[in-house]
Amino acid sequence: MQTNPIQLFDTESSTYTYIVAGPGSDAAVIIDPVDHHCERDLAHIARLGLRLAYILETHVHADHVTSAGRLRQLTGAHTAVPRGCDVPPAEVQLQDGDVIRFGDGETIAVMHTPGHTAGHMSYVWRGNVFTGDTLLIDGCGRTDFQGGSSAALYDSITQKLFALPDATRVWPAHDYKGQAVSTIRWEKAHNARVVGRSREEFIALMDNLHLPQPKLIDIAVPANRNLGLPHGG
Ligand code: FE2
Repeated sequence: MQTNPIQLFDTESSTYTYIVAGPGSDAAVIIDPVDHHCERDLAHIARLGLRLAYILETHVHADHVTSAGRLRQLTGAHTAVPRGCDVPPAEVQLQDGDVIRFGDGETIAVMHTPGHTAGHMSYVWRGNVFTGDTLLIDGCGRTDFQGGSSAALYDSITQKLFALPDATRVWPAHDYKGQAVSTIRWEKAHNARVVGRSREEFIALMDNLHLPQPKLIDIAVPANRNLGLPHGG
């Protein structure tokens, strides 16, 4: 059965945060929470009668600070991050193929999708995939910092994410055009970065984007390696 996540948006960084909960249990998982929305997210969870079991990150973000550490302090939920992302305070260090179990038999499959960052993970739950910055709607994440690799991103998108069932719903970590959700079928047919390009052409495109650095990168990356908590705190 396909069950949709709850999708929440941060207008400053155009980041999507997701709350995932299956039927038959009050256990919930939050994915990629943003620091200044901690109270908003807790209010959603309380309003729905849910209890936070896990806080997941798809990767160490460069454009916003996570609320993972604070949510852990406030709820007692476990933090789970990709092992390759260098976030030592997270108690669960995820590897490709791991399964996160919560609620009444709910499972989230952990899929290593490097390229935007080296450690980046995507998460698969009930016909949905949370693609972080690996696959965006009609786009993809940049590959020019934090161990990024255009070749790895191409392989993650075309070999791993595009191997999911066509009807799988795609929930990205960002959108800049007001788009909310896509499907693997649509992205395989239309994604503007990937479709009609060879691996070499994709690498050439990505390596010549010349994007400005994210404004918050020097603050966000060290903060996020500590789950958004002050260092030494
Ligand atoms: Fe990112």
